[in-house]
Amino acid sequence: TELWAVIPAAGRGTRFGGDVPKQYLEVAGRPLIAHALQALLAHPRVAGAMVALSPDDARWPGWKQWNGKPVMRCVGGGERADSVLAALRALPAQVDDNTLVLVHDAARPNLRDTDLERLIAVAEAAEHGAILAAPVRDTLKRAGEGDRIAATESREGLWRAFTPQAFRRGALIAALEQARIDGVVVTDEAMAMERTGARPALVEGREDNLKVTTAADLALAEYLLSLRDP
Ligand code: CTP
Ligand code: MG
Repeated sequence: TELWAVIPAAGRGTRFGGDVPKQYLEVAGRPLIAHALQALLAHPRVAGAMVALSPDDARWPGWKQWNGKPVMRCVGGGERADSVLAALRALPAQVDDNTLVLVHDAARPNLRDTDLERLIAVAEAAEHGAILAAPVRDTLKRAGEGDRIAATESREGLWRAFTPQAFRRGALIAALEQARIDGVVVTDEAMAMERTGARPALVEGREDNLKVTTAADLALAEYLLSLRDP
């Protein structure tokens, strides 16, 4: 059965700064969003992609197809979750509520085929979807007054959430709508699902599946992509 990709790309990159929203910054000769699209649409079962763009986006290259697969666009919203919800609703009519959708950040250019394959396999068998993630490696400090250390927190059982995050379209729409009704800003799709009582699976992925947030991340992404086969 077919899967669809959903790519939130309506952010402004305020932490990165500068005039160009980071999804349009180039690494390895093309914009971050092109790497995100390529990684998902390279999978034989991913049928197409829906990209959520800012209403004043003047940089979208206007791609209609990628690898012969449809690339569609819609208008995103003020928060990431609004953009994802808009994209899920805008999917073409043949994408039913049971279709597994893969939500992947436009600013995450180094997703590998092997991780995507494992995520899809787990998500298809899982009751409530699955996400790529990795265990926390650093020692965690709780900041107190004046940024002095108040406590050391256990990292036992703590993971960092990556994308793609894979859920059934209908269940994810319902969860995101509920979060909106409740006035809760969810920072990833899994959080919206968790609020409904779902327990998505954690799929351990490569730590180099980084999201570009700062200039240092962009330099690291350039390096990581240079290590890959052309
Ligand atoms: N995103 C989106 N709609 C929003 C906010 C974010 O589609 N209203 C997208 C971004 O374009 C990005 C992904 O969600 O691909 C991850 O978000 P983040 O890294 O936070 O990007 P920005 O919101 O653009 O950056 P910042 O938070 O620094 O402004
Ligand atoms: Mg943001």
